[in-house]
Amino acid sequence: MATFLSSVLLLVLRTYAAPPEHVQVWPGGWTQAPGEAGNETLTPSLVPPPGTAQHAPHSIIIGVRKGGTRALLEMLDIHPEVAAAATEVHFFDWDENYVRGLEWYREQMPYSYPHQITVEKTPGYFTSPAAPARICAMNPSIKLLLILRDPTERVVSDYTQVYFNRLENRKPVQAIERMLVKNGALNTRYKAIQRSLYDVHMRNWLQYFPLRQIHIVDGDTLIRDPLPELQRVERFLDLPPRIHASNFYFNQTKGFYCIRSDGHERCLHESKGRPHPPVNGTVLRQLRSYLRQHNRDFYRLIGRTFNWH
Ligand SMILES: *[C@@H]1O[C@H](CO)[C@@H](O)[C@H](O)[C@H]1NC(C)=O
Ligand SMILES: *[C@@H]1O[C@H](CO)[C@@H](O)[C@H](O)[C@H]1NC(C)=O
Ligand SMILES: *[C@@H]1O[C@H](CO)[C@@H](O)[C@H](O)[C@H]1NC(C)=O
Repeated sequence: MATFLSSVLLLVLRTYAAPPEHVQVWPGGWTQAPGEAGNETLTPSLVPPPGTAQHAPHSIIIGVRKGGTRALLEMLDIHPEVAAAATEVHFFDWDENYVRGLEWYREQMPYSYPHQITVEKTPGYFTSPAAPARICAMNPSIKLLLILRDPTERVVSDYTQVYFNRLENRKPVQAIERMLVKNGALNTRYKAIQRSLYDVHMRNWLQYFPLRQIHIVDGDTLIRDPLPELQRVERFLDLPPRIHASNFYFNQTKGFYCIRSDGHERCLHESKGRPHPPVNGTVLRQLRSYLRQHNRDFYRLIGRTFNWH
């Protein structure tokens, strides 16, 4: 949004100085030449606003999947000094992208002004064995943001997302209990469970980055009361405080906060507030009890506890 607003302002100024062309502005600062008006595909002649450039990110939201990474990025994007990447780049976790090199990575970033910082988010980084070393090789002093929620809830949310994706693609689906239990025991090799072993993944990151470079956002709190979490992120990123209570309003129908910024209101995509399926209580207790020791180990690693149970 910050980039969008700046480019609109810039465009107004530019139009003022050199009036003739009618130019369509797309979010992210892309402009569309007049001849192509009405063509909805985003492949127009690409004219970045003058004074902007693409930069490797100053900060990366590394995960966790289903932790609230989209909400965090959208809320952080309220800040006028933040330029957020529009898509998940998957540079450090997908080998086929990583081999394209850092120049390719930089080209995936939004155009930003010199006073802005670039932020990218790819939730898959947190659980990728290769990502920490690769990010460290690019910039060992980069600031990392990690948003987490109750790891048991995260497993169910992870399952729910896959479930709906498969339904949309007309693939067969299975009840969550069939995924969680194999041969009468908890199936700890199920990927959704593996991704919730925060201690295991965190140990890998701490081999490359000191804890003070990884700011952990409480995803459960962010959804209930976004402002204090965002103010902590502003301080961590050394940004001046520009996000205010007036940037959020509660949508009763959705049951969560929406964003008001630059005179626009926006809520997260429908898929973000999906109800979870009911899960067999015995199986859920097995899962909680399996994750309990991992959670304790995680608290010890980061010197902080969460209200997960
Ligand atoms: C829109 O632009 C694309 C790429 O230039 C082109 O392939 C497509 O045919 C255009 N569509 C219309 C409706 O003009
Ligand atoms: C609140 O959420 C509902 C349901 O998704 C949506 O239709 C409506 O536009 C939202 N209202 C506002 C003010 O954001
Ligand atoms: C829940 O799962 C347990 C263990 O797998 C099983 O014994 C029990 O019958 C299930 N309960 C229900 C209500 O399906």
